[in-house]
Amino acid sequence: MALSDRPCVVVVGSINMDLVARSDRVPAPGETVLGGDFQTIPGGKGANQAVAVARLGARCSMIGRIGDDAFGKRMVAGLSEDGVNTDHILTTPGIASGVALIVVDASGQNAICVASGANYAVTPADVNAAEDAFAAADVCLVQLELPLPTVIHALRVCRRHNVEAILDPAPAPANPTPDLFKADILSPNESEAEMLLGSPGLSHDSEATARALAAKGAREVVLKLSGRGAGVLADGKFELIPGRPVDVVDSTAAGDAFTAALAVARARHRPLVEATRFANAAGALACTKFGAQPSMPTAKEVSALL
Ligand code: RIB
Repeated sequence: MALSDRPCVVVVGSINMDLVARSDRVPAPGETVLGGDFQTIPGGKGANQAVAVARLGARCSMIGRIGDDAFGKRMVAGLSEDGVNTDHILTTPGIASGVALIVVDASGQNAICVASGANYAVTPADVNAAEDAFAAADVCLVQLELPLPTVIHALRVCRRHNVEAILDPAPAPANPTPDLFKADILSPNESEAEMLLGSPGLSHDSEATARALAAKGAREVVLKLSGRGAGVLADGKFELIPGRPVDVVDSTAAGDAFTAALAVARARHRPLVEATRFANAAGALACTKFGAQPSMPTAKEVSALL
């Protein structure tokens, strides 16, 4: 448990440069479409969550890897500017920093392909080397853009330090190992929940989905239901938190803002339903701006919406 009054979140995750093109629609397989403008925007599920945690007022340390290249340097500088502690971000020579190719369509929906690069060089030993960050943390955030053994090791280190672990299982694996369900809070979106359960179509019943995930071992479940809001399964009770209508510009990283806000509220010891309301507002706000990290909201913006 952290001693400072500012709660502390440790993020073990990916750092990507997003190469983003706008287009009227996402191209079908084999099709070429003419897009609009192009931008390079710092992203990566881990780094997005770290930035959001810092903007929402908590202390944040990030564990990850970049390549020895210009993208990597720019991304670490950006994290530092946002107040994220980057001491545990290591550089891997000879591998490119992670890159995500993103097309955002006219309705703000996206398609993403990640070239993991240095993210796939993050090892359990890197996690061990950052054990001081776990010792100082109230909550740990992990996603699945790192090698699975590293993620599972991070969950183990959380248990050793009595740090609440929130797993954002994105991108979801087809055959998840039971160890993934040992996170304290599992927070998938609908398609990720279906992948984890191997049950296409189940997610139309949010309560059944949450209960099926809990039956696999997750202590608590927070389902991200995009515009419909979120579903929380806590202490055996299921509750739907309605979505907040916003004008969607770009939904990229809305889930990251949501998960980061959930972590910050939990680090402040808020009950899960209340933490999910806060997360819901943060996720909605992230849809109103273009790009991943530029759209991560501040504590003031979330309070204003609430
Ligand atoms: O969740 C959005 C993120 O997914 C993007 O920033 C991209 O880098 C991919 O990791």
